[in-house]
Amino acid sequence: MHFKVFPSKIEDARVTVPGDKSVSHRALMLGSIARGRTDVKGFLAGEDCLQTLAAMRAMGVRIEQPGPTEISIEGVGLDGLQASRSALDLGSSGTAMRLMAGLLAGQAFDSVLTGDTSLTARPMRRVIAPLSQMGARIDSEDGKPPLRIQGTSGLRAIDYAMPVASAQVKSAVLLAGLYAQGTTSVTQPAVTRDHTERMLGSMGATVATDGNRISVDGGPALCGCAVEIPADLSSASFVILAALLAENADIIITNVGVNPTRTGVIDILQSMGADIVMENPQLRGKEPVADIRVRASQLHGGTVDPTQVSLAIDEFPVLFVAAAAATGKTVFSGIGELRVKESDRIAAMADGMRRLGLVVDESPDGAVVHGGRFTGGTVDSFGDHRVAMSLAVAGTVAAGDVVVRNVDNVDTSFPGFRSCMATIGANIRVVEDVSE
Ligand code: S3P
Repeated sequence: MHFKVFPSKIEDARVTVPGDKSVSHRALMLGSIARGRTDVKGFLAGEDCLQTLAAMRAMGVRIEQPGPTEISIEGVGLDGLQASRSALDLGSSGTAMRLMAGLLAGQAFDSVLTGDTSLTARPMRRVIAPLSQMGARIDSEDGKPPLRIQGTSGLRAIDYAMPVASAQVKSAVLLAGLYAQGTTSVTQPAVTRDHTERMLGSMGATVATDGNRISVDGGPALCGCAVEIPADLSSASFVILAALLAENADIIITNVGVNPTRTGVIDILQSMGADIVMENPQLRGKEPVADIRVRASQLHGGTVDPTQVSLAIDEFPVLFVAAAAATGKTVFSGIGELRVKESDRIAAMADGMRRLGLVVDESPDGAVVHGGRFTGGTVDSFGDHRVAMSLAVAGTVAAGDVVVRNVDNVDTSFPGFRSCMATIGANIRVVEDVSE
């Protein structure tokens, strides 16, 4: 499946986007090992989270889906999971794989974690190393999935300094820490999304954050609770981008999660001249939400503050397109982690921008994007949902039609992307044959 995108007139609108992917994964995992029921509203029924849902069911957890975005989990308690009869297939989800490795490292039974061709190429030593220090036994080939986890009766608490700023690694260690004796601590080199810490706190775990050091106590039971998941800022970013690049638009995206560990994209875009304001700030449980109002803006390039990278880690495909449409050049540095996401996002975005007539200079952990005007053309998503959606938005302001190849993966994080974009006037058609 491919997208054919036509130059579009983006219009004023008030829209919603689906629930947060990171929070949805955590609700499923933590709700499953809590005692009692966890009722979740605003769940992201995208492919990644549905793989996690299936995995929890395969380990004996009863999960009902009373509505398209509602789930109800009958928690089995910390020690109530059962061995799955077959390998747990986590599709393309790095979050599911790495958090699940932490969750299953201290279980009494063996597990096998696997995934699709994209996930089985991604580095897992970053979780295998700290979990092994805790006493977990995990086999892999060359640090890549499948991961074979052998049951272990007791994990040791550790005090771990993470070499990469990764919320997935931090969360894996904290989840394993629930099964260790004593207090497990992780120190992160930069702030990363803290949804695990917040949800663990809501469910009664003893978690403490001291600067960049996060600790959790092993042992005490978690209690199921009601979870209301905010709309995903990462998905909202595609709408924000379309509004900013439009000739004239004023768009409000409602109830978006604006946890400060995620809002780097807003800060970076504002530093490039974007007119973005947050209205109606509220709390959804422990997660802050707001309506995000965006007006069309002339963006300008500059040097992106590297301390914002971990706070905007999933939004660089969007930022590449913003930079390409800005005046002057934009310098990104410290973004080497993008090379090990669902695709090599630096290479994928540089390729897409070049095929649309722009100039991008790449380095191992950075890029310089020279602003200009998108021509029409054919680009590839490299199997990456965020690359696909970012390039589709670029197509709305291109001088000609843009074909984005291989977009089946968009449902990973943003089911309904096309209809949401249609409500703001984006003209995106699905084609099976690129010559259509
Ligand atoms: C996520 C953490 C980030 C992010 C991913 C979701 C999470 O990955 O890119 O989409 O939910 O913890 P890293 O921890 O690898 O940076």
